[in-house]
Amino acid sequence: MRLSLRFIVPLLVVLAAFAYAVLPLVDDLTVQWFVRDLNIRASLIANTVQDSVQDMVRAGDQSRIRQILAKIAQDERVYAVAFCPSPESQPISAGTLPPTVGCADAESFSGPSGHVLASPQGPLLVSVRPLENQGGPGGSLVLVHDMSFVTRRSEETQRYVFYLLLGLGVIVSLLTVVIAQLSWNGWVQGTRALLRGEGLLRPSDQPDAPEFHPIASDLRELIRDIESERRPRDEDRFAWSPEALRAVLHDELRGQEVIVVSNREPYIHIRRGEAIEVRRPASGLVTALEPIMRTCSGTWIAHGSGSADRDAVDRHDRIAVPPDGPGYQLRRMWLTEEEEAGYYYGFANEGLWPLCHIAHVRPTFRTSDWDQYVRVNRRFARTVVEESKSKDPIVLVQDYHLALLPRMIREALPAATIITFWHIPWPNPEAFAICPWREELLDGMLGSSILGFHTQFHCNNFLDTVDRQLEARVDRETFTVSYRSALTAVKRYPISIEWPPAPDLLAKSVAQCRTDVRRRHDLPDDHAIGIGVDRFDYTKGIEERLRAVERLLEQHPERVGRFTFVQIAAPTRAGIEEYDHYQSRVHALVARVNARFAHAPRPPIILLSAHHEPEAVYEYYRAADVCVVSSLHDGMNLVAKEFVAARDDERGVLVLSQFTGAARELPEAIIVNPYDADECAAALQAALEMPDREQRARMRLMRSLIGEFNVFRWAGRMLIDAAAMRNRSRLLDRLVARGGRAGSPQPADGSR
Ligand code: G6P
Repeated sequence: MRLSLRFIVPLLVVLAAFAYAVLPLVDDLTVQWFVRDLNIRASLIANTVQDSVQDMVRAGDQSRIRQILAKIAQDERVYAVAFCPSPESQPISAGTLPPTVGCADAESFSGPSGHVLASPQGPLLVSVRPLENQGGPGGSLVLVHDMSFVTRRSEETQRYVFYLLLGLGVIVSLLTVVIAQLSWNGWVQGTRALLRGEGLLRPSDQPDAPEFHPIASDLRELIRDIESERRPRDEDRFAWSPEALRAVLHDELRGQEVIVVSNREPYIHIRRGEAIEVRRPASGLVTALEPIMRTCSGTWIAHGSGSADRDAVDRHDRIAVPPDGPGYQLRRMWLTEEEEAGYYYGFANEGLWPLCHIAHVRPTFRTSDWDQYVRVNRRFARTVVEESKSKDPIVLVQDYHLALLPRMIREALPAATIITFWHIPWPNPEAFAICPWREELLDGMLGSSILGFHTQFHCNNFLDTVDRQLEARVDRETFTVSYRSALTAVKRYPISIEWPPAPDLLAKSVAQCRTDVRRRHDLPDDHAIGIGVDRFDYTKGIEERLRAVERLLEQHPERVGRFTFVQIAAPTRAGIEEYDHYQSRVHALVARVNARFAHAPRPPIILLSAHHEPEAVYEYYRAADVCVVSSLHDGMNLVAKEFVAARDDERGVLVLSQFTGAARELPEAIIVNPYDADECAAALQAALEMPDREQRARMRLMRSLIGEFNVFRWAGRMLIDAAAMRNRSRLLDRLVARGGRAGSPQPADGSR
């Protein structure tokens, strides 16, 4: 409507101005034409009657003259007609001559164009025509024409012109509006489509749009600029929450389906006698992704590793989870013992895990393990294809178990957007070169559209490795790898936790948690407690931290019997020799240290080597005075973030290894080198002595950082980047298809 008015109003104004200027001109012109016609008519009449009138004059027959004049006056346009024999005589007339017109005035009215007189009856045209009598003057004929018909005609003409202009205006307006609307819509749609990456396309059902060609490259530049500005704006705009993440999925990815693939499943069904227990595994990956899937819905494909997993699924091996309020589908995949031994225990956890962590455990690579790794990755790829409801799903591939999966999915679903996240560190190129299948692994990973690591350091290591191992072009400015004619973006996405934490986890008050935990372990109310929560894994630095506890008690004997370190260690990867040895070593160390301080009324170390559900873990976090994370090498470490999230009382101190990704984000923790027992003991002492005010100040800073950089931002940023890539890829595809600028590699995703 507004668009129409924008065209019509100016048009009508122009037409009105036109009418205002033109109508008087038309009027003048009409009058002139009629005056000229009437004068010609007067001359004609004078010529016609000249001889008859002269005969009557000569015969002195005035009554015949009057008869002739009366005939002339019968014409409806003739108002009066008179014959003046001489200027001095009285006129012989028919009709009523105006009083100002007499024979004496005839001279002044003579001339070819006549004179217009105003009269009460309307305008009159007085034309005087001299008559001849045998070659000499013979008086004059005075003709007075009634011009009121001219005025009537002129008014009619004006009315017609007015209606004509009006009609013209309406038709032109309508045409203008229709054309404007059509072309505006066309342009808007075309431009929008371009910006969405669909412009310049010629879908088979749409006509070509050549008018967009000249602006194509400008728009492409514009899109890039907008994208590069967009992330900071988006991040500022959002307080990242489940709703914000849902909005990203809906707005940026048009509700596209999301498929997560990982080895570890988010819920494990375990048989306990007759009963089936549901367990949430100790896995940073699961901690991070579970709230994301609850928010995004979709399907999570994982290895069904629980003893009762098969009993819980439907005939398609699916189960809706979480059990207490289903929000997404878990699709379980079954592995044979042989597959699990080779792929999971062997290649992933005896090969890649130690290869990527600097924890002084040598990686073991066996061809038989590799074969199983390839085979199981292929099975995961087939399951992704089975579960995919569209040709271009968004697939989130998780971790080192599935390094070959991105390429395999790319081959089966070329238009998929594949985001791979590597949850563990990436080693330097020399270390990675140890792996006999290094090229195959890199090739597999570079099937991804986006490849994410926790830190920039790991991104750099990955690019160095690719540079060293593959015939690929590494762009360190844009952080992309161009390989096999496709681009993979390598980006840093520091993982995090759900914020605010689920209310169940904080339901019990800190005071109650303190009391309950101390009673459970037979510790007095004022007993200081340190906490460590880990999988029982050699990368976690559990030995180092327990040695630091021993050192603290050596250096501060007053703490003996007044401080206990509770270590929760969830059994993991049982059956791998290194893990078995490690767990035995830790048990022995605990026994030795406790024996050393056996004289104290309370043990210095309590080792809880069992799985604990999140509620139980949070109770320990809230009960503790200090939490120690002493990983020897860790991609991020979410225990550090969980401890901070658990402390809504803003108390408690975090001692954090410098070799975790988390140390880069949480400098307010006491940062330590876990290999330095003295430094760690001093950190423990400083933590136990730290005044409340300082604890609060540090906690606040860490809490606000985790609140802002929560796991919804982690996922949201990846999805926003994926959406931008999909759009760009579509745009470039269509440009190439239409003979636009080809040659540069396409993002490794989208509609190719
Ligand atoms: C690390 C890995 C995860 C894994 C978790 C637990 O965090 O990055 O992929 O799930 O350890 O290990 P598990 O072998 O029990 O799955």
